[in-house]
Amino acid sequence: MTAFSLAKEGQKADCLILPLFEDEGDKDIQRFGTVVSHVRGLKDFEGKKLQTSLLYTGEKETPRVLLIGLGKKKDLNVRTWKHAVGASVISLQGKKYTSLAMVIPDDVTKLFGTKKAGRQTVLAVGLASYAFDEHKSEKDARVEPLKHLAFLNISGNEKRAWQSGMEEGVILESAINETRHLANTPPTIMTPVFLAKAAQNVAKTFPSIKVSVLGKAEVKNLGMGCFLGVAQGSALPPQFIIMEYMAGKKTEKPTVLVGKGITFDSGGLSLKPSAYMTDMKFDMLGAATVLGTVRATAALALKKNIVALMPACENMPGGESYRPDDILVNMEGKTVEIGNTDAEGRLILCDALSYAKKYRPKEVIDFATLTGACMVALGNERSGLFSQEESMIEKMMKSSVETGEQLWRLPLGEEYTEAIKSEVADVANVGDVGGRGYAGASTAAAFLEFFTKNFETGESAYPWAHIDLSCSYYGGKGKPWIRHGANGFGIETMIEYLS
Ligand code: BES
Ligand code: MN
Ligand code: ZN
Repeated sequence: MTAFSLAKEGQKADCLILPLFEDEGDKDIQRFGTVVSHVRGLKDFEGKKLQTSLLYTGEKETPRVLLIGLGKKKDLNVRTWKHAVGASVISLQGKKYTSLAMVIPDDVTKLFGTKKAGRQTVLAVGLASYAFDEHKSEKDARVEPLKHLAFLNISGNEKRAWQSGMEEGVILESAINETRHLANTPPTIMTPVFLAKAAQNVAKTFPSIKVSVLGKAEVKNLGMGCFLGVAQGSALPPQFIIMEYMAGKKTEKPTVLVGKGITFDSGGLSLKPSAYMTDMKFDMLGAATVLGTVRATAALALKKNIVALMPACENMPGGESYRPDDILVNMEGKTVEIGNTDAEGRLILCDALSYAKKYRPKEVIDFATLTGACMVALGNERSGLFSQEESMIEKMMKSSVETGEQLWRLPLGEEYTEAIKSEVADVANVGDVGGRGYAGASTAAAFLEFFTKNFETGESAYPWAHIDLSCSYYGGKGKPWIRHGANGFGIETMIEYLS
């Protein structure tokens, strides 16, 4: 863990991190001494986004300065700032500097507000400091977190706000990095039971959270035939993990979060080609995201009622696997024709969406690495958002702009609902619109939507939104501001949404 502080007058630092804009005024640059001015004059460092330059000042107090570019002032937003902070931290790791200082530009505190700037800065440092390296045997090859980081240029009367933002940032950072860690953990270790234990451990740290875990027998008793169908090809028992954090008013209905917890997705009998099977340890990121959200909610002591439902199992081929052509029965008795066993996420989620009804929720939001199609549509810097509830869309989009995590609305609609109709069952687990695999993200969402209905009235049982996590991990390669693997997308936005 990095220790954060506000810098004192004349404090020494092994290296000063100096973020600069492309259109920084000459006067402002002169404040930082002749070396910085000189480098700017030579045009070696122009301040373009994420450009870095390490300078040696020849001074005792601050022997090194790392310049980091922020781009043009008018383009500054939370995302650019977080990326610049993260990139500066990553570029200084491994250099064995023990004390660092960072200048916080006035434009940053002005645009975001001091408290939010403190939170975002510390969060970006924390996310950049994490590396999934516990399986490396050479200690030298592991990443050492920065020891001490002091912030400069926070005025006296703003110090309190900055401090309280920093505290929130530290809480968010540990929740998000735990989620990343769970998802990065290899699938032979990260089993459904392991994930359930992780949820129980969170409840040990935060006793305001209650965890219950339903095993195979209980899931069977509840009649979750779709969830069990997916799980039956695996040697590992399924777990239905429930986290409840009820710190809100007794009369207030809970927000229910649902997360896809496939600990490994081989595709099942509709086996994935090998090139598509790597990274499928990340298929429990929906569950890890809601786990991290509940953890952060409790750590921040938000006065909210939140329930997280995490169906967790593996999708494996074998003599006992469910098959294409099977018909599975959901816990509310609805039948599902299986066209492809690789469309398993929606099957485990449909039982969770049915189960959610018993809470009479205020709203339900599910998170799932549900379709490759969503990645094809959006790439992995943005996740798909689906809902018919305009107020949820609006609030969710607003929250994502606040955090710099990017969401993009994708459609639900009649043609997608039509596409998943079945000749032999109530609904089919695959369908397309106009061509093979067309509209895969929307037909998957329409399948989930089917189970958000009250089957007696045909009305929605609760307001519902679905997030297809197309940007929850960076495969083998990272970004300048964050390392490869899971990136924890969604937790911060959910906290913003719930706050
Ligand atoms: N877990 C995958 C979706 C996925 C693929 C997430 C790649 C992240 C990266 C999901 O279970 C799946 O296999 N979906 C299929 C659905 C198809 C069979 C209708 C897909 O997207 O190809
Ligand atoms: Mn699949
Ligand atoms: Zn999957």
